[in-house]
Amino acid sequence: MTTLTDTTTDTATEQFRAHVIRGLQLKEKKISSRYFYDDEGDRLFQKIMASPDYYVTRAEEEILRDQTDAVLAALINGHEQFSLFELGAGDGTKTKHLLRAALDKGKQPTYLPIDISEHVLEELGDALKEEFPTLQYEPMQGEYFDAIKRGFSDRPGPKAVLFLGSNIGNLDRKQAIALLKGVSEHLGPNDRFLVGFDRKKDPATILRAYNDREGHTREFNLNLLRRMNTELGADFNVDRFIHAPVYDPLSGRALSYIVSTTEQTVIIPGADGPIHFEAWEALHTEISQKYDKPMIDDLAAHAGLRRTATFTDSKEYFRCVVFAPNTKAQQPT
Ligand code: AVI
Repeated sequence: MTTLTDTTTDTATEQFRAHVIRGLQLKEKKISSRYFYDDEGDRLFQKIMASPDYYVTRAEEEILRDQTDAVLAALINGHEQFSLFELGAGDGTKTKHLLRAALDKGKQPTYLPIDISEHVLEELGDALKEEFPTLQYEPMQGEYFDAIKRGFSDRPGPKAVLFLGSNIGNLDRKQAIALLKGVSEHLGPNDRFLVGFDRKKDPATILRAYNDREGHTREFNLNLLRRMNTELGADFNVDRFIHAPVYDPLSGRALSYIVSTTEQTVIIPGADGPIHFEAWEALHTEISQKYDKPMIDDLAAHAGLRRTATFTDSKEYFRCVVFAPNTKAQQPT
C-alpha cells in the first residue's frame, strides 16, 4: 500500500533526480546547496558549526547573547505583546537569548518558527517547552511566504521576523532581493526584520571556514555525491573527487566546488546517457556570499527596506541588521 509519506518522499526524490540531471548536463555543472541537508548532511553541518574554524555561528551568537536587550528593543520597541517569526527553525540556540530576555521582563512573546520540516518544529517545540513553559509556541510548517501570509494577520502587537545564520548568503543577489522583498511586502510600519549577514574579512579566515582543519566541510560537500548514490542509484566513486572551495575578495563570494580528479563517467538512472567529467572539471555546489555595507544597502534598497539598527560582534566578523519597511522600493537592476 502506498502511504501519503511514501508518495511525498517519492516526489521529493524525483525532484532531486530531475534537478541533478539538469545540473550535471549544463556546460558548467552545478547542484543547489539545498540538497546538502539529508540526515547525514544535518549531522555534518552541526559539526561544522561547532568547529573552531567556522566562525560564523559563534560570531552571530555572540551578538544575540551579549547585546540581547538592545536587539530586543530594536525589534519590538518596548511593546509588551509581540510575535517573533523565524525563517527556518534550526535548534533555536540563538533565538533563545531573545525569548529568555523577553520572558524575564514579563513580556508576552509568541514564537512562530517557519520550517518545511514538521519533525524539526516538533523537536524545537519539545526543547522550548522544557526551558520556557509559559512561552506561546505556534510552529508553522510550510514555505516561508505562505506561512508569513497566513500568520501575519490579526496578531496583537508588532511582528518581528528573524532570518539568521547567514542563510541569506546561500542565495545569489536576485534570490536574496526576492526573499527580502517577499517579507518586506508584509511588514507594517511597526514591524521589523532582522537579517544575519556575514561580513567581508581577511580572505584567509573565510577560506579556512569553508575548508576547516577537521575536514567536516569536505565531508559535508562530498556527502552530496554519497546522497546521489544512495537516493538516486548513481555510481559516483567518491575517492575520485575532491572538495575545492575558493574565496574571491572582490565579489565577496565563497564558492564550494567538487572537482573530478580524473576523466570519468557517472551513471545516474533516469539520465539519457552517462555523465562525463573531464579531468579537473568542477561541479559548483554552494555560494556563501560575504557582504560589506554598500552591498547590504543595495539589497535593502531593492527590497523596499530601510536599516533601523546594526549590531556587530567584537571581532567585527558578522552583522545583525534590523530593517523596517520603506515606502519606496527601487526596481531590481
Ligand atoms: C547554512 N549556510 C549559511 C552555511 C554557509 O556558511 O554558507 C552552510 C555551510 N556550508 C559550508 N559550511 C557551512
